[in-house]
Amino acid sequence: MTAESVSGYLRAASLDEIPQEGAIRVELAGQPVCLARSGGQVYAISDVCSHADVALSEGDVEDGKIECWLHGSLFDLKTGVPTGLPATRPVPVFPVTVEGDDVLVQMES
Ligand code: FES
Repeated sequence: MTAESVSGYLRAASLDEIPQEGAIRVELAGQPVCLARSGGQVYAISDVCSHADVALSEGDVEDGKIECWLHGSLFDLKTGVPTGLPATRPVPVFPVTVEGDDVLVQMES
């Protein structure tokens, strides 16, 4: 798939590639990004836990949060803020828009 830039947004995936209450990992602008779906919403969050260098996309998604599989910190998918230890620092999040079946993520501000 070729990423196309639409006013700062890059096409990240098709909507149906992201499981309901689940996450996938994509590379955008050279960065690993976790695309997650929860409660019908799509979120984009950096795919690197702020506690150690592991992929958040391999964790479980539930109620707008993703759980780091290694030590169990929960991160709010909307804000990137951890809601449980041991992580204490937020993970960057990116604006997402869905156009038809295309999930677009804004990687530039
Ligand atoms: S590596 Fe994610 S909580 Fe420790």
